[in-house]
Amino acid sequence: MELLNGKEKMKREISIYFILFAILSLLGGVMFGILGAFQFLMPVFFNWIPFIKSRPLHVSLVIAWIFLSSVGGIYYYLPKYCNVTLFSGKLQKIHLWIFVITGFGVIISYLVGYFGGREYWEFPPILAIPIIISWLLFGINYFKTVFTKTEPWPVYLWMWGTGIFFFLFTYLESNLWNFPYFRDHLVRDITVQWKSNGSLVGSWNMLIYGTAIFLMVRISNDDSIAKTRLAFIMYFLGLTNLIFNWAHHIYIVPNAIWVRYIAYGISMTELLILGKIIWNWKRDLTKALRDFHILAIRFIVASDVWILLNLTLSILLSIPAINIFTHGTHLTVAHAMGSTIGINTMILIGSCLFLIPDITKTQFNLKQSFSISIGFWIMNIILLFFWVALIFAGYHKGYMVVEDKLVFQVMMAKIQPYLAVVAYTGIGIFAGILMIFAPVLKLIKDYIR
Ligand code: HEM
Repeated sequence: MELLNGKEKMKREISIYFILFAILSLLGGVMFGILGAFQFLMPVFFNWIPFIKSRPLHVSLVIAWIFLSSVGGIYYYLPKYCNVTLFSGKLQKIHLWIFVITGFGVIISYLVGYFGGREYWEFPPILAIPIIISWLLFGINYFKTVFTKTEPWPVYLWMWGTGIFFFLFTYLESNLWNFPYFRDHLVRDITVQWKSNGSLVGSWNMLIYGTAIFLMVRISNDDSIAKTRLAFIMYFLGLTNLIFNWAHHIYIVPNAIWVRYIAYGISMTELLILGKIIWNWKRDLTKALRDFHILAIRFIVASDVWILLNLTLSILLSIPAINIFTHGTHLTVAHAMGSTIGINTMILIGSCLFLIPDITKTQFNLKQSFSISIGFWIMNIILLFFWVALIFAGYHKGYMVVEDKLVFQVMMAKIQPYLAVVAYTGIGIFAGILMIFAPVLKLIKDYIR
């Protein structure tokens, strides 16, 4: 029994390291985002890390936050709450260290200006190999663990498994450009590139939405939420979206017209259902549970509001006539950041606020809870201004490109006021995140010590 407890503890500690590195990635990533935003205003600002480096540093680090925090959660929730024993703590450990060491490799390659990859994965493609290996280890560990479960799976186990499988598949696809058959044919190359990136986002959404449903089940102590018909409809819609909705990324490429119709028809439907599930859950929560888990619940409910806002924006952006104006402008960035901050990050912060006190067996004290609450409001209110400023910047730029046909510098000068709002509100978002995570980091530090 003693030995078992020791093993169990070791596994939990590994999950806490995933979360620790996730938070550090988020804080570092947001700092580089702020740097990039100020470089829109003053291109020579902090010339040691110019925009060509600060952008990929920002994007790769925030993506690392998304993966580390969702994966760390899954590794912890599986053995603790899903009635299964993790197949291998050792594989989990190897996964963590491959991820972290490769992450440092990526950061260093950007800092020294050694690129070579494609958008979102600009590092030298050789670094894709350890990423693929670590993900294979995760897949083996996950499926070997969940296949021992004899009862029917709740929907989140399906979602996590699907997310793991499809990340591997789409990440391999996004590296196909390394072969001349893809690279040497422009239309094929762009199609595969954007198809894989679109589906890849769908795969991490599976991990995150699965986590959201898991949290709702645990917080309300009601397993039925993850077994309802609505939850499974959402899963199948998510899967269909993951497979097909990428086509709205490539309206400009001459592909078969039916691909676009399918993409447009099913775009964003899964978000609608996730929004509905969160809405129903919030309505049915008892007061006692609401009070006990108030911090985690707040972030999940906030993600519901952001689902509504982003859904409206996304549906508009998917209309081909509007897409012509908005493609590649700050409106696309508003869509990307609105979803990754407003929906994904809110759910993942909720997960951290549930998981860290659970692992450390320590609740936040009054002062810490206050800091998290204030951070929550700062982050959400300022994010709204940030998002709206990006929308205005994108709208004006798109209009000037298509209608006025202005040159790039002139357009950038005209949208400076909006970009200034983006840069300064970025600092506010960072402050909010810091207020939320300072108490979490304190609990992690005490636990590790
Ligand atoms: C949780 C926090 C954040 C997440 C998850 C996040 C995510 C992202 C993503 C996914 C992109 C790529 C967008 C695209 O290619 O369309 C991006 C771009 C960017 N983000 Fe963030 N972001 C965060 C916070 C911030 C903050 C606080 C700032 C500071 C103002 C910022 C500034 C930028 C800039 C300057 C770009 C490049 C835009 C461009 O190339 O036009 N981000 N971010």
